[in-house]
Amino acid sequence: MADSIREAIRDGAADLRDFVVATRRDIHAHPELGNQETRTPRLIVEAMAGLDLEVKQGVGGTGVVAVLRGAHAGPTLALRADMDALPLQEDDPRPYRSCVPGVMHACGHDGHVAMLLGAARLLHRLRNQLHGNVKFFFQPAEETYGGASEMIADGCLSDDPKVDAVFGLHVEPDGEVGELRLRPGPTMASSDAVRIAVQGVGGHASEPHACIDPVPAAAQIITNLQAMVTRRFDARSPVVVTITYLQAGSAFNVIPPEVIVAGTVRTVDPSVRAKMPLQITEVAEHTAAAFGATAEVAYVHGSGVVMNDAGFTQFVAETVRRNRGDSSVRTLASPIMGAEDFGLYLEQVPGAFAFLGARPSHQQAYPCHHPRFDFDEAALPVGVEILTTVALEYLSDGNRRV
Ligand code: NI
Repeated sequence: MADSIREAIRDGAADLRDFVVATRRDIHAHPELGNQETRTPRLIVEAMAGLDLEVKQGVGGTGVVAVLRGAHAGPTLALRADMDALPLQEDDPRPYRSCVPGVMHACGHDGHVAMLLGAARLLHRLRNQLHGNVKFFFQPAEETYGGASEMIADGCLSDDPKVDAVFGLHVEPDGEVGELRLRPGPTMASSDAVRIAVQGVGGHASEPHACIDPVPAAAQIITNLQAMVTRRFDARSPVVVTITYLQAGSAFNVIPPEVIVAGTVRTVDPSVRAKMPLQITEVAEHTAAAFGATAEVAYVHGSGVVMNDAGFTQFVAETVRRNRGDSSVRTLASPIMGAEDFGLYLEQVPGAFAFLGARPSHQQAYPCHHPRFDFDEAALPVGVEILTTVALEYLSDGNRRV
C-alpha cells in the first residue's frame, strides 16, 4: 500500500471521528432488541445516503446490506457489524444513556455499527483504489443467534457480487485501546442449549418409596454431566457444560412428577460438538434409569465455532502491523468460550473475526453484558482505520487472494 493511501486512511479515520462517536451515542441512546431493529436500520440507511452504494433493506428480517463497487474488477470482501442490543437495564448516568427501559447496548454493537458506517464513508472516498467490491453487512439479532443464518438464507453471501471473504470486529472492554487481537482457527466457542426433562412419579414427601422421585435423579444427572466433561472428553480441547436452569416442585411436602434441567454447552472443536447430543443423552437416560426415572433430552444447536481461516488471519495481522506498527496486533492466546453467530459466515467463506481493545479510561472495565458496560470511544476511529485498511489491502491491485 502506497504511503499516500496509508495517510489518506489515517487522516480520513481521524476526520470521521466526530461522526462515528455521534453515531455510536445516537444508537446507544436508542437500543433495539434482536429482530426488532427498525430505527437502527433507518439510521444506517440515512447515514449512507448520498454515497454511491447499492443498499438493500430487510435482509434476513431487519438487516441492511450495502454494496460498494470498486473502480476495478476483483473479488468481494464483506465487512460485518451486528446491531442488536440486550434485554438489560442500563446502570450508567451518562448523558446518552439508553432511553428504552430494560434495553441496553451492553456488548458494543452500537460501536460496531458506527465503525462500519465510518468505514463505508472512507472506502467510498477511496473507491478508485478498489480492485473489487466491499459488501457491508449490518446484521440483526446476533444476541439471539438468528441474525447471521437469516442473512445468509436471504442471500447476503451468494447474491451478486458473491462474497469471497468476510471480516468482522468486536470491541473488547479489557484490551489496550486500539490493539487488535486475533488467532487462527477456533476463536469463539459453539453455543448449544440442552433441556432435560426428568420424569418420575410424584406423591407425598413422607413416602418416597411409594414414588419415583425425579429430584435426586436430576441432581445426579447434573453432577454426572460434569464428570462426563472431564472423563469423556480430551482435556486439550475445552468443553463447558453449565446447568443454569432447574425447575422442580412447588411445595416442601410434595414430590414432583417432573424436574426440568437446562443449560448451555460450549466447545471449540466441531467434532467434539458433534458428540455432545449423544453423550449427554446417555448420561441423562442412564442416570435417570438408576433411580427408576426416565429422562428426555432436547438438544438445540445454536451457533457454531467461530473458526478463523489461517491464511486470512495472517493476512489481517500482517496488514495491520504494516500500517499501525508491530505492537498494534497481538495473538489471542486461546479461544473465548463466549459465542458469536459470525461463525456461520466462516462456514461458507474464509475470513476472520477479531477483537479491538477499547478499555475505558474513565471507569473500570466491566465485561460485555454488564449494566455498566462501556468502552473507550478512542477505539472507534482505529476500528474504522482497520476495517478500511484490510479492505483496501484485500482489494489491492493484483487481487491479493489469501
Ligand atoms: Ni457482542
